[in-house]
Amino acid sequence: MSKTVFLPGGAGFIGSHVAAELLTLGYDVVIADDLSNARGDVIDRLEQITGRRPAFYRIDVADRPALTAVFDAHAIDAVIHFAGFKAVGESVEKPVAYYRNNLGTTLTLLEVMAAHNVKELIFSSSATVYGVENEAPYTEDMPRGGCTNPYGWTKAMIEQILEDACVADPALRVVCLRYFNPVGAHESGLIGELPNGIPNNLMPYITQTAAGVRKELAVFGNDYPTPDGTGVRDFIHVVDLAKGHVAALCYTAKHTGWEAINLGTGRGTSVLELVDTFASVNAVPVPYHIAPRRSGDLAVCYAATDKAKRLLGWQAEKTVADMCRDSWRWQQHSDKL
Ligand code: UD1
Repeated sequence: MSKTVFLPGGAGFIGSHVAAELLTLGYDVVIADDLSNARGDVIDRLEQITGRRPAFYRIDVADRPALTAVFDAHAIDAVIHFAGFKAVGESVEKPVAYYRNNLGTTLTLLEVMAAHNVKELIFSSSATVYGVENEAPYTEDMPRGGCTNPYGWTKAMIEQILEDACVADPALRVVCLRYFNPVGAHESGLIGELPNGIPNNLMPYITQTAAGVRKELAVFGNDYPTPDGTGVRDFIHVVDLAKGHVAALCYTAKHTGWEAINLGTGRGTSVLELVDTFASVNAVPVPYHIAPRRSGDLAVCYAATDKAKRLLGWQAEKTVADMCRDSWRWQQHSDKL
């Protein structure tokens, strides 16, 4: 019998790629999303890619009666929780909205899961929980905290809530996946990231600059203590990331308790290396200028990957060139969707 996996926030960038993997592997998928930062036609694209259509509910996951109705309608075996706001700058402007939404969706979800005796949960966490006091490579046993913005704090707080919930209920099976910098898109060109307005993150800014939507990329700082002076990040292809979720689902099926696991490649790439690779593999210019540092940015951020290998038997496979190629293909397709 196939397993039914519920994806709150599953119409977004990462959730949609996880849905594609799960549907392809034969899992039954149920998505709930308020479409505040996603488009409803993602469900059609998933059907186009996989030949199978997920069940879809347009609801606010913090709306308990609406969420209860979804759990009543499906025999849910496991949950992968993506429902949250994720714009770092916006979280500084609207902290209360971020805490209300990101904690609210999680708390309602935990209550409704408990009421329906659902014990498996994978949470969409972030490398941001390592804050500014730790140093790369980040290992999962480092202390959480020292986050530079409310978005980051919501991830750290939710991890704590989940840890406490696991102490109280030894039957719970929770994995917090700490993503590094997800980029790229599905190779079909049918799903990818759809940033609202001017992108904050590097890769969508690069693709929009290459496409002529933005005039020039601002490279935030070239005086960091790194080989070329620009920031270093652990970019990970979203399809590799999605496969990490499937591996985590196999893990939670067998293990109780709480775990945090990094999903990164373990390799650092500088901002300028990414720009140069993008321009060369796609044969398209990416005009840029050097700008002042962005506040809250770290010089270097990359993952220790041993725990993911050991517990999940998973590691990232795609190269930075793959990420650049697939991001560009998506930029060109998404104009036409
Ligand atoms: C940020 C958040 C992280 C969040 C992630 C979502 C912080 C400290 N981190 O990561 O919590 O999970 O986004 O993907 O806020 N850059 C430029 N020009 C640009 C945009 C970015 O030079 O126009 C540089 C940045 O200075 C940085 C690198 O590119 O060195 C990556 O930036 P970005 O894509 O925004 O991700 P992070 O800041 O690493």
